[in-house]
Amino acid sequence: MFKDFFYFVPVKVVFGQGKLNETGNYAKQYGKKALIVTTGTFFQTNGLVGRLQNILKESGVESEYFPDVNPNPLSTQVENGVAFAKKTGCDVFIGLGGGSAIDAAKAMAYGVGNNEPIWPCWIGEKPMGNNTKPIIAISTTSGTGSHVTPYSVITNPDTKEKPGMGNDSTYAKVAIVDPELMLSVPPMITASTGYDVLAHCIEAYTSNQSTPMTDMFCEQAIWLVGKYLRKAVADGKDIEARNALAYADTLAGFSIAVAVITLCHAMAHSVGGVCETTHGESLAAMTPQTMRFSMNALPEKYKKIGLLLRGELPERSDWQPEESVKEVERLIKDVGLYKPLRQQGVKESDFEAIADGTLRYMAGAVDLDPRKATKQDILDILKKSW
Ligand SMILES: [Fe+2]
Repeated sequence: MFKDFFYFVPVKVVFGQGKLNETGNYAKQYGKKALIVTTGTFFQTNGLVGRLQNILKESGVESEYFPDVNPNPLSTQVENGVAFAKKTGCDVFIGLGGGSAIDAAKAMAYGVGNNEPIWPCWIGEKPMGNNTKPIIAISTTSGTGSHVTPYSVITNPDTKEKPGMGNDSTYAKVAIVDPELMLSVPPMITASTGYDVLAHCIEAYTSNQSTPMTDMFCEQAIWLVGKYLRKAVADGKDIEARNALAYADTLAGFSIAVAVITLCHAMAHSVGGVCETTHGESLAAMTPQTMRFSMNALPEKYKKIGLLLRGELPERSDWQPEESVKEVERLIKDVGLYKPLRQQGVKESDFEAIADGTLRYMAGAVDLDPRKATKQDILDILKKSW
């Protein structure tokens, strides 16, 4: 059955081993001086920042380096980056890393280009501008999909809110997806970022805003995660698995850019804002219960999720949605991600604030879930995931 839909993801994707070397060719089309944004100095220590700076230099692009960003980027750090970029005259923004680095680079590009503090726009008090400076995303994990989405997730350290915001101007111009950069990602980060890919697919696939195109991307990506995530966690040097997951991450990003995310991500953002949990871990703790909450509203799609994960044709008639939940739980345990919320530093006394935050600034995502959750439903899911 076909329904009306729109599809728009204006990102030039450059995919393949060694593609980092082409960054300068693209960067010079957008600016003269790049700000390279990373979370911490790991990529400086291991030489990747220096390598990138040389690549840029060969194309006549100067660069500055800004590593002062947390794994959950803070609005204050974004403003520091904006001030640094203005002072040093940077006109193109390169996020080098996982979603955090890319999200921070997007927010800095927004702040410089639109010449205004980002937070009022991120929390929805003010409409976003469209003059964002050009962004280049170089993903080193698979992944948050951030390289092909407009979203930038930023945490306010004062209010402990963690919204994801973006518009057509905050898409990267170019996304460099070089699986060679992912070979040294440690097993736990491979597991949690790879799980994020699956969570994006489960939610985009079942979103009220899903489309035939996003469904196609999600089905392929779920199948790839089922086939390759365990392999990549077991052997980080498995280049075939790294390629497959980088591709799955990109497909999942294409999906959430349009179909967005739903209840589990809405709750995970609020959990992360209140308790500073790891994105992939908090998702893994809550996906099974959010699936159980929503699955009877869209049983056919929830059935297919488990079958795709198993690499089976999604037409088996004896398969039930609950078996898909169990398949997801099996994967979570196999890749070492089983960690209930209480083991992630979430306290029962945090539940109220988490539920309120979910419904306050992630209400749009809650509304896209096939089953509309009330505050009591969210509190119940938190309790069962704790
Ligand atoms: Fe995510």
